[in-house]
Amino acid sequence: MKSAVIAGAGSYLPPKLVTNADLTARLDTSDEWIRTRTGMSVRHVIEPGDATSDLAVEAGRRALDSAGGGGGADVVILATTTPDHQVPPTAPDITARLGLRTTPAFDVSAACAGFLYGLATASGLIATGAAERILLIGADAFTTMVDPDDRGTVVLFGDAAGAVLLRAGEADEPGAVGMPVLGSDGSLAGLIQVPAGGSRSRSSGPPSKEPDPGAVYFTMNGRETFRHAVGRMSESSREAVARAGWEPTDVDWLCAHQANLRILTAVADELGFEPERRLSNIAEVGNTAAASLPTLLAMSASDGTLKAGHRVLLTAFGGGLSWGAATLTWPDIVVG
Ligand code: COA
Repeated sequence: MKSAVIAGAGSYLPPKLVTNADLTARLDTSDEWIRTRTGMSVRHVIEPGDATSDLAVEAGRRALDSAGGGGGADVVILATTTPDHQVPPTAPDITARLGLRTTPAFDVSAACAGFLYGLATASGLIATGAAERILLIGADAFTTMVDPDDRGTVVLFGDAAGAVLLRAGEADEPGAVGMPVLGSDGSLAGLIQVPAGGSRSRSSGPPSKEPDPGAVYFTMNGRETFRHAVGRMSESSREAVARAGWEPTDVDWLCAHQANLRILTAVADELGFEPERRLSNIAEVGNTAAASLPTLLAMSASDGTLKAGHRVLLTAFGGGLSWGAATLTWPDIVVG
């Protein structure tokens, strides 16, 4: 059975920055609160009128270039919770703009765990022989969904895209990805949600009912989310490491969804990862949802932290609730 092997990677951060000082200038918050509660200092945000696909096209192009360009892809998967539109899906548009013509393309929605769900989908397509080269992009523009006046959420999110080109290969070669461990708990769906915009809010009440303007914004019960996030990421991580036949001490880098520095610290402590074995870019990018893991991988490879042969443990958690973990060894590739 073939395994998914990383052949290229890339990321894209929009140039516009929002610093803690920008936020404290207009909201009842402080640099000290934001840094101590979240670990964040700066976020990259899209300009009005730009969208998730604009980020995804750039990251996708960089991953294709990193893989040597010419090979293209025979499937494109976009993990996102902020598609450009409710209809059509965003992946076909990205695919066309990348010049991949009529390549099959679809979106995967699993909030901040979306990249791992996409990785599992891609691994399955490769294992069954249905595909040989898959471009998997994680991209989100959560700043389009948070209430700009809600200090509880606006400080947390940035916009980004990250991508990997996966090819069919062998389980024991550098770049090979272990089949992800995944989980969900829909009984806790209300902890993280955008109440309006889906079929539930459209179909409830008479057509004349005025929508609640606030319901279009992202809401989160931070405390409860925090508790579940630590438990689920730790559990799934242990299972993924065991599935790979590794011990936690065999892993060079913990690459966890950059939701909040205190969550990252709690998960790392629970799993026994010292600060020297934790990848992090949360201070510069904030929580970028489905883009978080591939962006962190690509940035860490680009700055030389992540090297060929390093063993990496990925884990993420988000709305759904949804979570997961996966292992991989980093390949010998150039990431610009
Ligand atoms: N600046 C100052 N005070 C703020 C604030 C801000 N930006 N945001 C919230 N507060 C206040 C709250 O209003 C509350 O005040 P009160 O006690 O007077 O009501 C107080 O800080 C504590 O709020 P709480 O939400 O309990 O804070 P917290 O310590 O739990 O930290 C989060 C909030 C969001 C940073 C934290 O809960 C978290 O990161 N949760 C998980 C997020 C996550 O994992 N997401 C993953 C899926 S996307």
